[in-house]
This record gives sequence, C-alpha cells and structure tokens, in this order.
Amino acid sequence: MSDHANPAELAKFTDEDLHLLEQARAEFAGAGSPAALEAARIKYLGRKAGLVQSRFENLKEAPKEDRARLGKSANALRKAVEAALADAQAREVVGLADGDQAKAKPDLTLPGRRAETGHRHVLSRTVELLVDVAATLGFSVAEGPEVELEANNFDALNIPLEHPSYDPFDTFYIETAPGEPKRVLRSHTSPVQVRAMKERAPEPLRVVAPGRTYRPDKVDATHYHTFHQLEGLAVDEDITFLDLKHTLDLFAKGVFGAETVTRFRPSYFPFTEPSAEVDVSCPFCARDGGACPVCKATGWLEILGCGMVHPKVLTNGGYDPERFTGFAFGMGIERIAMLRHGIRDIRLFIDPERGNDLRFLEQF
Ligand code: PHE
Repeated sequence: MSDHANPAELAKFTDEDLHLLEQARAEFAGAGSPAALEAARIKYLGRKAGLVQSRFENLKEAPKEDRARLGKSANALRKAVEAALADAQAREVVGLADGDQAKAKPDLTLPGRRAETGHRHVLSRTVELLVDVAATLGFSVAEGPEVELEANNFDALNIPLEHPSYDPFDTFYIETAPGEPKRVLRSHTSPVQVRAMKERAPEPLRVVAPGRTYRPDKVDATHYHTFHQLEGLAVDEDITFLDLKHTLDLFAKGVFGAETVTRFRPSYFPFTEPSAEVDVSCPFCARDGGACPVCKATGWLEILGCGMVHPKVLTNGGYDPERFTGFAFGMGIERIAMLRHGIRDIRLFIDPERGNDLRFLEQF
C-alpha cells in the first residue's frame, strides 16, 4: 500500500506504534472471514483492552517530556488502524482477497443486463386489432357489465324462456335477494346491444363491444368457462343485408388479410332475423383444402354469427322498427386469436394450470 512508503507519515509514529500498525494491517488483510476480521478489530481497536487503546494508557506512565510525541503517535496509530480496518471491510464486501482490488473495477466490456419489458397479452392485442379494423369501418367502442341483468342477457334479446341458455346449467346465475332483479354472468356480449341502443336511440348507431363472457361449459381444448367476445351493432335508416355482408367481408379482410373470401350460411339466433354464420377462407391452406389441420381440409373457418336485428330487439332498444333497421354480429375473441396464431388449446390463454405461462405468452 502506498502509505507504507510515505516518509512524512512514517515520521509521526514511534517505532513501537509503527510495528503495531504493520501487525494490525497484516492481520486485517489476512482475516479469512467476517468473524476473523471482527476478532482482529476487537484485538486492536477494542475500547477497553484493545492494543491501540493500551498506547493511550501507557501515556500516563511516560515521562512528561515524551508525552506529546507519544500522544501524537498514538493518535496517528488509531487513525491508521481504523483506515486499515475500513479497507479490509470494504474488500470483504466485494469478496476480494488482498491484492485483487483491480478486479473490483467494473468491466465495461461485459454485456449489459437486459431490462425485461413486458407486452400486451395476446388476447388484448387481438381485441385491439378487431377494434382497429372496426374503427376503419366507422364503429366506435361500447361497453357493458360482466354481471348483467338477466333481462338484458335474455329477455330484451328475444330469447324465449324455454331457450336452453336460460337453464342454470348453461349460464352462471348470481344469487340475488328475492324481489331484486335477477342477474347473470353475461353469457355473450349481445346484452351490450340493448344497453347501447337504449343509450343512443333514436340516433343512428355503430358500435363494437369487446368483453369477457362466461358459460359453465365443460372445459376442453376449445371451450372454457371464461372467454371473450366482440359484439357489433349498426342501427340506422335503410340498413340492408347487403350492408351486413359488405361490412363483415371488409372486416374479415382486415383481420385475416386482403385475400380473404367470406361465405354466409343461413343460421338462427333469436335476436336476429334473418341470421347467418360467416366462414372465412382458411388463411393457412389458400382454399385448396388438402391436409390442412386448421380448417380440417374444408378450406373454410367459421368465425362469427350475425344477422339483421330482430324488430322486437329494436323495439326493446327504443327504435321504431318501421323506420330503423340494423345488423349485429358476434365472434369469439379466443377463436380469432387461435386461428390467427395457430394456437391449439384455449386453456393456454388464462387457465391457472395450463395457461398464463410466459413461455407461451412471450411468443406473441
Ligand atoms: N350472441 C351470439 C353468440 O354468443 C352471437 C351473435 C351476436 C349472433 C350477434 C348474431 C348476432 O353465439
């Protein structure tokens, strides 16, 4: 150490103190463990019986004329031993033996530590995509509660009491006090149609409503009790089935690519009349069928249900069905994400056992 060779400093010490200092430095540096270093500290700097303290005790017996010189030396000794201790303690913290200090300097050539940045969940990104495409077609976003009035989930949508979804085995019912309106965990996003219409009527309306939905389905690779849907609703004067077809065709092209072709098949929903199901050409096998596992070699993928808003539903929403018409559509968001990304199992999204795994989520 450089202070060993500093003559000005050495001059302050008596030979005895200098010897003690060197002894202390050697012991501090050689202490192999925090306990050994602590023992050495007590040996030299202990308040009662420490060797440095004993130098001050000695002063009392020293001849008067020597006291000033000895006192100065003892003071310098204490400072130097304390510095040596601090030095040894600092080396201990970085885990270095004496003489390894150069290694304590940071190595600027080492690669940095990567800051982990998160990103949006694949379902959130799918919702964003769907909402963005809908926005280009003039639709804004509407919302409704996940705990919904039974009346909005079923009655206002013209779903008859005898419909299977009314059954407590097909819908999660919320316990409500007698006399309170019955509530359910909404089994689809269609009740947002009712809320949006009641809010906007008689103004024309174009909204999409993304959100979480619930059904007590048996869980498997394509069914989960908690899932998401995107609802669409347009109400205006002179809306025809052609508007529905054209809008959904453009929507499908926006989501699955400009080459996408759509196919409408007649279907049934209580809240639309007429109703249809929409297939898109399979983006994975370019419509040639073959052995595509995604479309099971049919060349088509079913993506949504739709139809012209039933006059009763328009009435329930506050529109005069003689003057207004509209169309509605609804799709499963997990299904869209699974088709777009080739995901085989719906449980991978949020199931606490199979899903929510960063190794899965980081891919998207
Ligand atoms: N709510 C229907 C379902 O969950 C989907 C749908 C919405 C169909 C709007 C037609 C119109 O299956």
